[in-house]
Amino acid sequence: MQRSTTTKPPILQAAARAAIADAGRDLDVKAQQRALWALGDYHRFATHTVWELGPLLVRACGISTGQRVLDVAAGTGNVAIRAAEAGAQVVALDLTPENLEAGRRAARERGVELEWVEADAEALPFGDGGFDVVTSCVGAIFAADHRAVADELVRVCRPGGTIGMVNFTPEGLAGEFFELFGRYAPPPPPGALSPVLWGSEAYVRELFGDRLARLELSRSSYVERSPGDPAAYCDFFKQTFGPVVGLYAALADRPDERAALDRDFLDFATRANTAPPDRPAEYRYEYLLVVGRRR
Ligand SMILES: C[S@@+](CC[C@H](N)C(=O)[O-])C[C@H]1O[C@@H](n2cnc3c(N)ncnc32)[C@H](O)[C@@H]1O
Repeated sequence: MQRSTTTKPPILQAAARAAIADAGRDLDVKAQQRALWALGDYHRFATHTVWELGPLLVRACGISTGQRVLDVAAGTGNVAIRAAEAGAQVVALDLTPENLEAGRRAARERGVELEWVEADAEALPFGDGGFDVVTSCVGAIFAADHRAVADELVRVCRPGGTIGMVNFTPEGLAGEFFELFGRYAPPPPPGALSPVLWGSEAYVRELFGDRLARLELSRSSYVERSPGDPAAYCDFFKQTFGPVVGLYAALADRPDERAALDRDFLDFATRANTAPPDRPAEYRYEYLLVVGRRR
């Protein structure tokens, strides 16, 4: 099914603002983002959904022993831990300290060492050209200013180095997911762009321009498996995925809207389920794999 490719209100900014306002706190946009991603249990979420994408990006970028790797919007180490396991010297950067802390614990359990840095993808705290490989797996796409992110990824990568990303596509299931939640969230701050724009080939080519000598773009998909039926898939998101936890919290005193969101979410999860009837629900998400060589 063809889905909308227009810019939708980013659920993240909007849900964050609503949740934080409900909590009576007065935080700036970055602090709202950070607070939102700290809700739920991102490590539990990631290890049950996107965890296979980390090693995929490590392989696609040819990460190997001794390389200096920066993983941007690293979450709890999906790419970063795998890159360290491949022998690279890795910096994992994220806006949300709670995710970095969970990543530290996961790295310790796996017996690898890497550096964890709290910072913003739009303003990386590193000098020019310091990394052989710069990656981001469904991460930097959530920063509001896409051009600033692209500029920073290029700036910190050395000439001849590699930039690799995994980005949700607007036509895939994530496009529909964010559109659904965006309908219930207040408008995002001015200038904030939809994360799924990063899944369009033309958009990525335009953002990086001629700063990448070679840019390979390929679409593929991965499958998320529910712990049970479609309702269990919704519950899993409502317990673990910060932006969804935040939006439901923001609707706590609006029971009609909350019930309508529940109905739409379950409808989405029922329609999008690709598993046979008596099996746990499954969801196929399309992504754009981006691998470029810095000029
Ligand atoms: C969907 S998670 C992806 C995490 C990880 N890359 C993975 O594959 O599991 C998105 C992450 O982006 C981070 N994030 C959002 N906006 C950011 C920003 N402006 N700068 C740095 N990190 C950001 C969040 O804190 C969160 O950890």
